[in-house]
Amino acid sequence: MSDHDEADLRSRVARLSLEQKVRLLTGADFWALYPEPDAGLRRVVTSDGPAGVRGENWDERDTSANVPSPTALAATWDCDRVEAIGRLLAAEARRKGVDVLLAPTVNLHRTPFGGRHFECFSEDPLLTARIGVAYVRGLQGQGVGATVKHFVGNDSETERMSVDVRIDERTLRELYLAPFEAIVREAGAWAVMAAYNGVNGSTMTESPLLRAILHDEWGYDGLVVSDWTATRSVEPAARAALDLAMPGPAERFGPWGGALLEAVRAGHVDEALVDDKVLRILRLAARVGGLDDAVPVTPVPANTVPANTVPANTVPANTVPANTVPANTRPANTASANTGPADVPRELRAAAAASFVLARNERSLLPLARPGLGRVAVIGPNAQVARTLGGGSATVFPPYTVSPLEGLREAGLDVAFAPGTLGHLRTAAARAPWLLRPDGSRPGAEVRFFSSSGELVGSEQRDAAVFRWMSGFSGIAAPGQIARLEVGCVIRAGEAGLYQLGVSGLGRFRLFADDAEVFDETLAVREDADIAETLMAPPQRLAPLALAAGQSVAVRLVHDVRSSPMAGFGTFFQLNLEVPHGTDDEELEAAVALAAGSDVAVVVVGTTAEVESEGVDRTSLALPGRQDELVRKVAAANPRTVAVVNSGAPVLLPWADQVAAVLLTWFGGQEFGNALADVLLGDAEPGGRLPTTWPASQDGLPSTRPADGVLSYAEGLFIGYRAFDRDGREPLFPFGHGRGYTTWSYESITVDCDPARPSGTPGVAVCVEVRNTGTRPGREIVQVYASRPDSAVERPAKWLAGFAAVDADPGETVNVGVLIPERAFQHWADGGWMLEPGTFILSAGSSSVSLPLTAEVAVK
Ligand code: BGC
Repeated sequence: MSDHDEADLRSRVARLSLEQKVRLLTGADFWALYPEPDAGLRRVVTSDGPAGVRGENWDERDTSANVPSPTALAATWDCDRVEAIGRLLAAEARRKGVDVLLAPTVNLHRTPFGGRHFECFSEDPLLTARIGVAYVRGLQGQGVGATVKHFVGNDSETERMSVDVRIDERTLRELYLAPFEAIVREAGAWAVMAAYNGVNGSTMTESPLLRAILHDEWGYDGLVVSDWTATRSVEPAARAALDLAMPGPAERFGPWGGALLEAVRAGHVDEALVDDKVLRILRLAARVGGLDDAVPVTPVPANTVPANTVPANTVPANTVPANTVPANTRPANTASANTGPADVPRELRAAAAASFVLARNERSLLPLARPGLGRVAVIGPNAQVARTLGGGSATVFPPYTVSPLEGLREAGLDVAFAPGTLGHLRTAAARAPWLLRPDGSRPGAEVRFFSSSGELVGSEQRDAAVFRWMSGFSGIAAPGQIARLEVGCVIRAGEAGLYQLGVSGLGRFRLFADDAEVFDETLAVREDADIAETLMAPPQRLAPLALAAGQSVAVRLVHDVRSSPMAGFGTFFQLNLEVPHGTDDEELEAAVALAAGSDVAVVVVGTTAEVESEGVDRTSLALPGRQDELVRKVAAANPRTVAVVNSGAPVLLPWADQVAAVLLTWFGGQEFGNALADVLLGDAEPGGRLPTTWPASQDGLPSTRPADGVLSYAEGLFIGYRAFDRDGREPLFPFGHGRGYTTWSYESITVDCDPARPSGTPGVAVCVEVRNTGTRPGREIVQVYASRPDSAVERPAKWLAGFAAVDADPGETVNVGVLIPERAFQHWADGGWMLEPGTFILSAGSSSVSLPLTAEVAVK
């Protein structure tokens, strides 16, 4: 990737004074590193990650392609597809001036309660590793850095800043470190992020694991960056292999800067350590094209959808998630709009379809045959609003989203809609068509910025009512220079009724409607709230507003910036609006009547970015509100009911055996609704297989609750299917499960068949012959599990050892090679990888519980 050899990089380090070097070790601002002309270093920019590339701004003015959630990517079990998504993200990064993506997140699905479950790939370390390697190769192959995070043990959110996670050595190696190891060794990751939490007594930014394992064992030559504000000390962190403290500058966020300079001068931290950190920063810069004004590698263009394309199938939504913006720039869902230079919409649409898991399909209800298809009742809180991503730092602002309702309408079906129930817990941001600029000219709002002397310093015309400023106010003023903000807009009623208007944020807010004060309120945060919760889901204040049909109200929201306890960090708030709706009983009844009178009912239930978010773990896996009741009643009214589950992580589906079909769709990215139409109508296969066990109940799952600051991974190796196997418990849907639209027969397995593989690759080659016994072409994920019944070592009953995707036409037989890496037979004991000589069993099939073929492998 770079012309800079090591000697050159070292000579650049040698050119710098100690002051210059130490300055480089903390960010220059929230997202970027300092430039250093004396080293030929330009400003290098980082950005979250992983469901898109947000860029340096955090609002609707800087849109990003929104790819399906990481759980969805893993559900494809398709490394080539994920690598292509990595390339797409690299193109996005370059388009947005980003050099290093803060992704992928490769912590494990230790338990579905984990708030960032949607952001991680799988409960299985091998699947996580394979998908992670592909993601990183896709990005880095195009010259954009990946940051593998969060190293390590950040598998849940409760007390994440301080919790000490206790993991025994074997479990740490075989489960939690395994994806990091594979990605570092095989994809050569350029950056790793040290987590907030501690592991076995040391906070991760000071952990001995950084040097002992990353550097010394794995030979990692990349950068270790702290999670944002995770650096907590001067000397211990500097002596550990932490290279870069983020965010910056040090004067604002600490703790390095001048304090580290002093520590080096006083001899408490060796200057050679500083040199190594700077060397790693320069190495990263060289790799991303950040030295000597090198032109970064320009990947294929992406997201080049014309910004002024008129929305084709936008439906006003009365409930939108906090991080959804008006669909003001969405392309028509037509072939011509889908053939832009990089075909981003088409790729995202195909990826979403490839991730959907058809968990149940009684009487082959799906795919729906178009000929003769009557009215389709589209029902549910997640049908009208596209829930395309989870919450927290993974938030991006897509240029448009396609909801299930929009996608099905656009597919030309006879569609009728009923929300059935409100699934969300909080009121969402005001949006079109109710939200208009003060002059009523177009959707949006105006923000005016005032100094402490009351002088108007500048203004912004905005398309949405979600406001987030982090490193100053969009070039209008530096942090600290603005005392008051005023948001002006018009709220125009559609139907007559009771609207709820208000704000979510921190500090003092005054709301005026037609110049009359509605409230003057200071909103405060819970003391123990996580920073992500504080910033992304702060308290709300709403006030009722009775409006006549078509009535307009001039609204002014005044915020005293310095009254927010988070003012030093940034300014975050939004103007919220809930439009009139029936009571839940009325909505339920209407939905059931609609279902009864329709040919098919598609009920879209799920969660939101507030239910599944960074910063908070879930305490219940149940669907919010009365969604379970809704599905049951709809299914009772219409036997042709499809339940579409729109969540990033497992939720409880106590009615699963009462509906004909269950389709698990994750958070599907911006093309979600179009992909859903493709799959329901059979234009695409539901290609996904579960990357994580879908439990039938929340009993017996590992807890995320620390006791006295300690979270013990007492279950050891037994998470996910390993635990269900050991306990003889039945999940609702097992790991690896998923039906496509064809059927397969597993014909034969051959060990040591030596399929095309790089010579010298250690491991065992297995060939599995499968036949497409159905009537459609299809894709199968052939899964191979290892087991060792007579082992002297405690082991799971079986573990995933390899997999491969195979395509076949009806009647076709295909022989697919699956490489089982040597590590699949090893276990960690006494400080090293061990191989227990003897016979392992390899079983192949279509899921962790459907393994018709077995073979033996003798290892020495
Ligand atoms: C998250 C990271 C993220 C960082 C920057 C942190 O709160 O844990 O995953 O990359 O913020 O947004």
